[in-house]
Amino acid sequence: MVVGELTEEVDVLVIGGGPGGYVAAFKAADLGQNVALVDANPLLGGVCLREGCIPSKALLHVAHLIEHAHEASAYGVSFGSPKIDIEKLRGFKQSVVDKLCGGIKTLAGKRKVRVLTGRARFEDSKTVKVDGESAVRIRFKHCVIATGSSAKRLPESLIPADCTIDSTGALDLADIPPTLCVIGGGYIGLELGQVYAALGSKVTVVEALDRLLAGADEDLVRPLEARLKKQFAAIHLGAKIESARRSGKTVELVFTDKAGGKQSLKFDKVLVSVGRSPNTAGLGLENTKVVVNQRGFIETDAQRRTAEKRIFAIGDVAGDPMLAHKASREGIVAAEVIAGHNATFDVRAIPAVVYTSPELAWCGLTEAECKSKGLQVKVGKFPWGASGRAIAAGRPEGLTKIIADAQTRRILGVGIVGLNAGDLISEAVLAMEMGAEPEDLAMSIHPHPATSETMMEAAESVFGVATHAMR
Ligand code: NAI
Repeated sequence: MVVGELTEEVDVLVIGGGPGGYVAAFKAADLGQNVALVDANPLLGGVCLREGCIPSKALLHVAHLIEHAHEASAYGVSFGSPKIDIEKLRGFKQSVVDKLCGGIKTLAGKRKVRVLTGRARFEDSKTVKVDGESAVRIRFKHCVIATGSSAKRLPESLIPADCTIDSTGALDLADIPPTLCVIGGGYIGLELGQVYAALGSKVTVVEALDRLLAGADEDLVRPLEARLKKQFAAIHLGAKIESARRSGKTVELVFTDKAGGKQSLKFDKVLVSVGRSPNTAGLGLENTKVVVNQRGFIETDAQRRTAEKRIFAIGDVAGDPMLAHKASREGIVAAEVIAGHNATFDVRAIPAVVYTSPELAWCGLTEAECKSKGLQVKVGKFPWGASGRAIAAGRPEGLTKIIADAQTRRILGVGIVGLNAGDLISEAVLAMEMGAEPEDLAMSIHPHPATSETMMEAAESVFGVATHAMR
């Protein structure tokens, strides 16, 4: 097909079909706009659905199952060692992905969103050329850039690409390597490290900083780290990668440890999970007035409008935190603004969840962030060792922590570590959005026995004493 001969006009063109882009497209269509959605991949859903959040959760579900079965021996129920049919496991993971990606396609069809497969490139501030299966030139009234991010790589001079895999490669589950090194002790490294450890790999973490999950409250990281120390072969903090080279089927990794000693270790696989970078290359932004900042993010205002009035940017490409749910919210804001509504991205709390075992979840400010801002705070903590539900579930290591402004009493931040913390955090998000004080949570009756009671008790302890905690 000759590219560019066909020109179409749309009200809204969305570039990128992830949880930012497809939500923006759906909302715009719901608001009466004529919408086209373009993605280089025919499967809609973006990295999140295809090779990120969703497949990793399918594998984490299985990892947690293995962990529970293993721990059941302490309660008098023993299972044999797990037998892993890797092809079947891969099939299960893929079926989850296919179901959800198919669902997005159906929803797009029902809304009459025109889906194009190909790479989009701006020719000017009103026109995008799509190269690919759907070769077409599109003139738009408004455009939403939602191109996401890609895994960062370490310099080729340090680690040749053929020595490592990224999260996409790890989720492909080609095999279960006897030994796996995870470079980077962040979200991806720890989630996938636990998956592979449960499947039988000996996992070693090599992290540059002197702690894991740098953005999370240290009180939350502690119980996770204690568990990881039992599950993983080793965790090296404050490490500096020196070199890597492939020798046969293994990779020899050389790094300097915290004490300055040189370590040379061999691994069957090395996963690099050292963060992600926004995807702006090849978009033709130089043909528009869109501004990309020094960190590579597209600059936007609170309505997610770029320097080019008709072009919006949302999701990972428009700044931290690189989280699907933040992208979706921005997508709704952008679509509403395009439809003429007085919308703005003005949120008090964006939840972050690390789906490890135990899970970590937090929103608002951490205690350390409050300190660095010079805020006077009161902190309430409720250890799950006093939660009937947590004890009955064999997981008393959790903690719920609430930070409130000492003067205004408003909740500034909440952190939870423990079973299903990612589900519990939504109550805290709502509380913060409603400008709640700890008393509001403490006075709301929570079901018993439930781990959500820890929120009520932590709230009681901010300015007083929790019923089930020692004075
Ligand atoms: P991350 O930012 O969470 O962690 C990267 C880690 O790598 C950091 O601890 C950093 O200190 C370390 N690091 C950087 N350079 C290094 C080096 N040369 N040697 C050793 N360590 C090094 O990034 P990650 O895990 O790659 O995840 C990327 C993003 O994806 C996250 O920031 C998050 O926004 C998103 N994500 C979210 C998930 C969720 O919501 N549950 C799950 C997975 C990813």
